[in-house]
Amino acid sequence: MSFIVAIDGPAGSGKGTITEIISKKLGLVNIGSGAAYRCVALETINKRIDLKETEKIIKILDEINIEYKIENKQNVIYLNGKNVTQRIREKDVATIVSPISSIKEVRFRLNDLFRDCAKNKDVIMEGRDIGTYVFPNADIKIYLDATIEERVKRRYKQNQENGIEMDYEEILKNIKKRDENDKNKEIGALKQAEDAIYIDSSNMSIEEVANKVIDIIKQKRKI
Ligand code: DC
Repeated sequence: MSFIVAIDGPAGSGKGTITEIISKKLGLVNIGSGAAYRCVALETINKRIDLKETEKIIKILDEINIEYKIENKQNVIYLNGKNVTQRIREKDVATIVSPISSIKEVRFRLNDLFRDCAKNKDVIMEGRDIGTYVFPNADIKIYLDATIEERVKRRYKQNQENGIEMDYEEILKNIKKRDENDKNKEIGALKQAEDAIYIDSSNMSIEEVANKVIDIIKQKRKI
């Protein structure tokens, strides 16, 4: 039996940060679905495959090895044996990840990986379609949102902290384009599940959001 917490929402809504905090506090395995899509995007870049070469991108899935690990109490992700946790946040990856995540076959294969990773574990998983598509029977579903201005500000700050150079306008353009693409996917489009709890985090601190979600989990999990 596993206990599944699904956190969905648009880019920059704070899903990643909140999920990381809660995973540590409550001992839930953190499976970041966006990071897996970013790994496929990175491998596309590494192999110099053009975005139009869909067949070649799909073939990557046969050769790729993605692993979620914990090192020094931090969640890290490995692509073919290499720690790419920072690398997948860079601009070249951010630019192509949304179209790559729109490829049906890529979604099917990664969804299998996510379901496999979650087997018999208590997990928290963030993404776009976790509560609607990957785990429609998740024990808890949260839809985390924030205004576009706030989401761009957060991503800008996060990039600065990680030494990634992208100005405000560039991030705004990138996020708007991703929102548009993520909401209009044929499969796994970003939308709130009917039974998800909606949280607008625009005027909330990270701690406030994390505590709110922790309260919801504790009530349901009875720990
Ligand atoms: O959460 P993120 O910014 O790391 O996600 C990167 C991209 O992956 C994002 O543009 C949408 C896509 N994605 C998706 O389509 N489905 C998911 N469950 C998670 C991410």
